[in-house]
Amino acid sequence: MTAAYSKQDIIAELTAPIADIVKCYPTQRSAIMPALYLAQDTYGFLDETAYRAIAEILDIPEIWVFELASFYTLYKNKKIGKYNLQLCTNVPCMLRGAYDLLGHLQTRLGINKGDTSTDGLFTLTTVECIGSCDLAPAMMVNETYHTNLSKERVDKLLDQLSQSSIKPSVEESKSSVEKSKPSVEKNNASTDKGPSTGTESSAGNGP
Ligand code: FES
Repeated sequence: MTAAYSKQDIIAELTAPIADIVKCYPTQRSAIMPALYLAQDTYGFLDETAYRAIAEILDIPEIWVFELASFYTLYKNKKIGKYNLQLCTNVPCMLRGAYDLLGHLQTRLGINKGDTSTDGLFTLTTVECIGSCDLAPAMMVNETYHTNLSKERVDKLLDQLSQSSIKPSVEESKSSVEKSKPSVEKNNASTDKGPSTGTESSAGNGP
């Protein structure tokens, strides 16, 4: 993002929608996380330029933004694939075969954990509990939950995602920014409605 967007670009683009976000919270600081998420949704990932821009928009110390963005794994500090595969490997999912699925995904995609496939479609990561322990093993693809996974279901899901053009790529998202500024409503409704494997949901079911 640094090469394509300057701090001033981001400020010009996001000041208005972040001002709308701030109205929902008691303090400027409370709006850091949704502001970060909006920036990531707009540009595909976050970097120091974005952190500094958000701090300036919110008129808060930069360290407040840096410490939050570096703590939570949902904030990406590098460009990722169109589909972010976030496989849970905590104990309930581990006991239900999560590491077998991880090995299968790595073999199928030809990448290691943390990498992005050469076609730019898939980034593979492992995450802590995503709140679907009762339906383990579970994985999120962008913001959609896929549960009760097996190697066969993973293969079916990857096949469907590979063939799908429902969700725009990062590059397509960047292009759309040029045409219309993001709104808070758009951000709140930006859940991925990717292909169905018959085991997906948009919210987790806690333990
Ligand atoms: S341990 Fe995997 S969803 Fe809770």
